[in-house]
Amino acid sequence: MEIEVEKQVVGEKIISEGFTFDDVLLIPRRSSVASRMDVDFATKLTRNIELKIPLVSANMSSVTESAMAIAMAQQGGFGIIHRNLSIEQEAEEVRRVKRSENTIIERPFSVKPTDTIERALAETKKHGISGLVVVDENGKLVGILTHRDLMFETGGKLVGEVMTKDPVIGKWGQPIEELLELMRVNKVEKVPLVDENKHLKGLITARDVLKKRNYPHAVRDSRGRLRVGASVGIRGDHKERAEAVLAAEADVIAVDVAHGHMERVLEIVKWLKVSYGCEVIAGNVATRQGCRDLIEAGADAVKVGVGPGSICTTRIVAGTGYPQLSAILKCAEEGHRSEVPVIADGGMKASGDFVKAIAAGASSGMFGQMFGGTDESPGKMVFRNGKRFKMYHGMASWTALQGLKESDRTPEGVESMVSYKGSTKEVVSNLLGGLRSGMSYSNARTIQELWKNAEFVRITNASLRESHAHDVDVI
Ligand code: XMP
Repeated sequence: MEIEVEKQVVGEKIISEGFTFDDVLLIPRRSSVASRMDVDFATKLTRNIELKIPLVSANMSSVTESAMAIAMAQQGGFGIIHRNLSIEQEAEEVRRVKRSENTIIERPFSVKPTDTIERALAETKKHGISGLVVVDENGKLVGILTHRDLMFETGGKLVGEVMTKDPVIGKWGQPIEELLELMRVNKVEKVPLVDENKHLKGLITARDVLKKRNYPHAVRDSRGRLRVGASVGIRGDHKERAEAVLAAEADVIAVDVAHGHMERVLEIVKWLKVSYGCEVIAGNVATRQGCRDLIEAGADAVKVGVGPGSICTTRIVAGTGYPQLSAILKCAEEGHRSEVPVIADGGMKASGDFVKAIAAGASSGMFGQMFGGTDESPGKMVFRNGKRFKMYHGMASWTALQGLKESDRTPEGVESMVSYKGSTKEVVSNLLGGLRSGMSYSNARTIQELWKNAEFVRITNASLRESHAHDVDVI
């Protein structure tokens, strides 16, 4: 599908026309979709990773760390951890997601009875957990340090004095239903799992088991853990970073740079595929050729968008970019040919833009600003004139570039604040509500049907004005 484009020939230069979300509308068509609930959002993030909903949270420092990635995967979408972290911190964020709903935790964090309470408290804080298992120097279970054991402790004692001795234990390999029953009967939330010699092998927590039941649509790996991605750049520490996040079991690596159609990016995509065989998302590009080159280099998904983002100033600073809807149309056509999904990244201001991005052929949409204002984003909450906002800044903004050499710092993004929007779940639900409606207008039950059926009409500024609420005082 392509929108009719005019080309102006000026001397030897051809100037083509491109469109973005506000330039078009989807044409309503005869629809047999009786209920808006009749639609299925199943899609692909990459060649080999399936999602239940086509939503991805941006790998930006004010959007995606473990809390956001957990919330996204629980809803059926996906989050990619940003790379403005030390290698160890980024790997730790990945591990937090992997551990978050792991029904059986292998190698749980432990302390020794001779460790101090200060050390135990520091460990719980570091790993974002409420308790620890206690083992002796031979790895034998001797107790458990629960939230309740630690609640009133400020320090000055040893773990052995405070821990719960003789905790309820389960056998390594015992069926989960039996372990749940053990927890129910004994009214405990955590059960360490041991082998025949009482060596600690794992841990099961009631919270994780129950959480799993609360999120039937969650996106999980083959071991039942939530899926998560991690980002690497193309200079400096990218090798060590890739190794660390893969060791932490990230499901996909995003090679993420502003100009994804650089030869260096192609080399790194090839290197990742050859060295690790991992799933690779590459970008960002905005042209058919850019998309093709990344696919030929081995990318399992291509991220599309140069300059459309809410905080982006690339087009102003570098005079470079491509109107986002046309970029998606061209790249998606290329992607569909090789069965490589395209991720529409940035610039979607409302659910209608998201519908247009998917209708144009994207397999998923990546959002920064929308998720930046939620409880799960790492951005700082601020109050202005009695309203709540969260800080949201571009990854090429002055704030994000701190630490680089002066000569490497030409910001192509801005610092901003976005209205507080509540939980990620609410934002996801609003975006899906819009998508559901858009699909039914296009007689589409699935995303593939939307690709096939969607028809765009180009609109004028007068139509855009007509599209928004007008001639009323909106209250
Ligand atoms: P939205 O519109 O969802 O866009 O807030 C998020 C996307 O914007 C990109 N991004 C940037 N682009 N300068 C840019 O030109 C920046 O500083 C910057 N930071 C993020 C990125 O693709 C993100 O997913």
